[in-house]
Amino acid sequence: MPRTLGIVGTGYVGLVTGTCFAESGNRVICVDIDERKVQELRQGKMPIFEPGLDHILERNIKNGRLTFTTNLEEAVVASSVLFLCLPTPPDEDGSADLQYVLGVARDAARIIKEKDIKDFKVFVNKSTVPVQTAEKVTSIVRETAPDYPIAVVSNPEFLREGFAVEDFMKPDRIVVGASEERAIDIMRDLYEPFVRSGNPIFFMDEKSAEITKYAANCYLAMRISFMNELSHYCEKVGADIEQIRMGIGSDSRIGKRFLFAGLGYGGSCFPKDVKALIHSTDAAGATLGLVKAAEEANYHQSERFFTKILTRFDSLEGKRFALWGLAFKPNTDDTREAPAFRLIERLLSAGAAVTAYDPEAMENTKHVFGDRIRYANDSTDCLKGADALIIATEWNEFRSPDFEVLKKSLTMPIIFDGRNLFDPDDIAKTGLEYYSIGRKAITQS
Ligand SMILES: NC(=O)c1ccc[n+]([C@@H]2O[C@H](COP(=O)([O-])OP(=O)(O)OC[C@H]3O[C@@H](n4cnc5c(N)ncnc54)[C@H](O)[C@@H]3O)[C@@H](O)[C@H]2O)c1
Repeated sequence: MPRTLGIVGTGYVGLVTGTCFAESGNRVICVDIDERKVQELRQGKMPIFEPGLDHILERNIKNGRLTFTTNLEEAVVASSVLFLCLPTPPDEDGSADLQYVLGVARDAARIIKEKDIKDFKVFVNKSTVPVQTAEKVTSIVRETAPDYPIAVVSNPEFLREGFAVEDFMKPDRIVVGASEERAIDIMRDLYEPFVRSGNPIFFMDEKSAEITKYAANCYLAMRISFMNELSHYCEKVGADIEQIRMGIGSDSRIGKRFLFAGLGYGGSCFPKDVKALIHSTDAAGATLGLVKAAEEANYHQSERFFTKILTRFDSLEGKRFALWGLAFKPNTDDTREAPAFRLIERLLSAGAAVTAYDPEAMENTKHVFGDRIRYANDSTDCLKGADALIIATEWNEFRSPDFEVLKKSLTMPIIFDGRNLFDPDDIAKTGLEYYSIGRKAITQS
């Protein structure tokens, strides 16, 4: 049965959630405090780059199922389910900052009380939140609007930026933490159109649902860090991390994904979720040493890459680097906690200059670095005047460059490849010097 849904927070998660629920026939009211974003969305302008989202967004705005507002009351009054898709950034101690989630829950409950709305409503935590947040939201709701029929549900989101529409439309699974039967029925109804192929909806208690999200992200971060530490070992003994990746990835007990050695994980989720799980497990007296080690390994990985560059030149003073890739991974414009950004900071503080290019993340980079670096129009333009090339994101368009052009454009024909895009044996034939991750260096000497 189509319903009216409120989505609070129209970022990467909220916008995808709202658009996909509208596409499945619901009426969706998206709320954001960012007035400019809301204005632009009303005109169908995308605030983020997410492949495939623009067409569905446009279609659902046109057919009137998807609307945008800055007015929370509008969504609370009209909707039976309110999804909280709000930021949960790390606090100074690494814990997830819940001010946005708790603040909106309180405001929404206040509206329900003031308007004396007696209809059953479900508040859904879609943000990544630590264990017992559903309990905290429930107590705020009970304090603010006692006796009003509001259920609180935990429904963590597992979408990947770059594949968010596909992940939302055809999820591997849906996780719902809920205890009230009416809320469970509504959540089942809402998600059934997305699991027609038979993928499961797991109903569980709220705490287990909350931990499931952290467990997924931290486990994936651990896999990446494991491969990154192993890549260091490979470099020491002359082995090849890519061969090892294929050797273990084809074992069905292990699987192929999240085994790529590189510059370390980044993005808006893994770094903060690792920190938050470390914080909450420490607080519970159940320390997760493996996750702590993954975080430490992640830090060392990008430092080691920087040291590789530094060691090659002795001093970086006055050197100019072309940098390909700024987004934390391909197919997104998201640069939050991007390894490329860490690297730029290290290069600049060592006296180097940077010219950067990314197919989608230039605007977000300009907001952070302003005129501290130069910006190129394309990957070839980026090479002009550079001494060497650094690759920080594995966009497809970087995978088959013209090595002759590259060699002629760079003052010193050197590539530092943080994503293992090329085969070292192929590079050896080009006359370029090549440093990658966990594989032999091609020094041409
Ligand atoms: N980005 C992802 O790939 C991803 C995947 C799964 C889960 N998550 C989790 O989902 C949550 C949201 O992440 P995101 O990446 O979408 O964040 P985001 O920063 O892209 O979007 C958050 C939005 O909330 C808005 N907002 C802030 N305060 C508000 C308020 N009081 N009222 C209305 N709107 C408000 C902001 O303006 C922004 O548009 C986080 O907890 C994140 O960890 C993110």
